[in-house]
Amino acid sequence: MNKIFLSLLLIAASAARISAADKTAAAGGEPDFSSFVWPVESGTYKPGAGVELAQGLCITCHSTEYVSTQPPLPRKFWEATVKKMKDKYAAPLPEDNTALIDYLTNAYGVK
Ligand code: HEC
Repeated sequence: MNKIFLSLLLIAASAARISAADKTAAAGGEPDFSSFVWPVESGTYKPGAGVELAQGLCITCHSTEYVSTQPPLPRKFWEATVKKMKDKYAAPLPEDNTALIDYLTNAYGVK
């Protein structure tokens, strides 16, 4: 299993366990996970040419704040970030991400 997915699962499981703990502690049984609901992503990427790429490819693992809270950085940073998401974190990204990197630089970086 993919490491990131496993970590997310563990985080979700421990969050659910904490909230389920008070319910089950009194009963002394296994925690009840049936009421666990994944939080809904409420952030969106800034409008601009290519936003649909970020909206489609960059919301599966983390919130949009990972991008929007970065300081304005040059294209090199966004290029390296997209490469890191793909190579290190196994983000399912296409080979050519030029349009996505253009979008990230225009919307969140400096030219
Ligand atoms: C397969 C899951 C996955 C996808 C898809 C993904 N990321 Fe990430 N991203 C991560 C992980 C894991 C981290 C590091 C989290 C941490 O350190 O807390 C991260 C962190 C970041 C950071 C913070 C800086 C850094 O390098 O740690 C930025 C910016 C970022 N991602 C941008 C993007 C962009 C842009 C996309 C779309 C191309 C994207 N991510 C898609 C998994 C993903």
